[in-house]
Amino acid sequence: MNTEQTKIWNGDAGRAWVETQQLIEQMFQEIATMLVCDISAASQVLDVGCGTGSTSAAASRQLGVQGLCTGIDISQQMINVAQTAVSEQGLTTRFICGDAQRYIFAPASFDLIISRFGVMFFDDPVAAFANLKQAARRHAELRFIAWRSADENPFMTTAERVGSSLLPHMPIRKPDEPGQFAFANKERMTDILQASGWTGVNVAAIDVPCSFAEKDLLLYLSRMGPLGRVLQQEDEQTRSSVIKIVRRAFEPYVHGEQVSFNAACWKVTASAA
Ligand SMILES: C[S@@+](CC[C@H](N)C(=O)[O-])C[C@H]1O[C@@H](n2cnc3c(N)ncnc32)[C@H](O)[C@@H]1O
Repeated sequence: MNTEQTKIWNGDAGRAWVETQQLIEQMFQEIATMLVCDISAASQVLDVGCGTGSTSAAASRQLGVQGLCTGIDISQQMINVAQTAVSEQGLTTRFICGDAQRYIFAPASFDLIISRFGVMFFDDPVAAFANLKQAARRHAELRFIAWRSADENPFMTTAERVGSSLLPHMPIRKPDEPGQFAFANKERMTDILQASGWTGVNVAAIDVPCSFAEKDLLLYLSRMGPLGRVLQQEDEQTRSSVIKIVRRAFEPYVHGEQVSFNAACWKVTASAA
């Protein structure tokens, strides 16, 4: 039932993504652009784990009236924000609140399935990608971006690394468990896609330069990721002393008014044929 992830994304993590929506949009804008470039041949696009909808909105802009993008996400609060955002932008996008692993999609209904960091959270990834495959038309393309390893993404793990030396309750990531780095292992990810019926799997390592405004760094490090979640349970004094120490560790990424880092990712494509 993806119970754990449903709880996380409808609780603290969902709230954190909603609160930091604009910062995330800025930070990962290039990745959204990468996913929706060259989609004119598609008419029905599915965005998996669409979150607050910025990639769905980018797809809808590309499709215009020639097609429709549907975003699915397990988090009701993020779907609500996505719905408001697209209507404010005058876009037509359909959103579904549901578990992409189990949702009963109309068979063969999409000719492109995309995801920006939204497919690493399934408790049964083979079942999930098989479910997406049956929703795909015969020659449909699967195209998603997932994180490479935590070691290759030191920016992403700075807060929890420093936080775990200060706080006793920081969760420890287990290799391959559902979560941000579940697809770090290229061979495992390829096996999952092949076992679920996708063909022509292509996995390319990409390094994407990302940046956001320095004024948003405290918001980022105190709200996002495992440290952000743990800090919510701490008292005010502990929170502010941890934040001060963690902020110092981000100094190498601060360049004047910008924070910049490299996102070490996989760009994955596969075919339903
Ligand atoms: C890291 S966020 C990425 C959000 C969005 N794609 C973006 O880039 O802004 C992961 C998203 O996947 C969603 N998610 C996790 N498990 C899911 C599932 N089983 N079905 C649908 N969405 C899921 C979460 O609720 C969350 O919005």
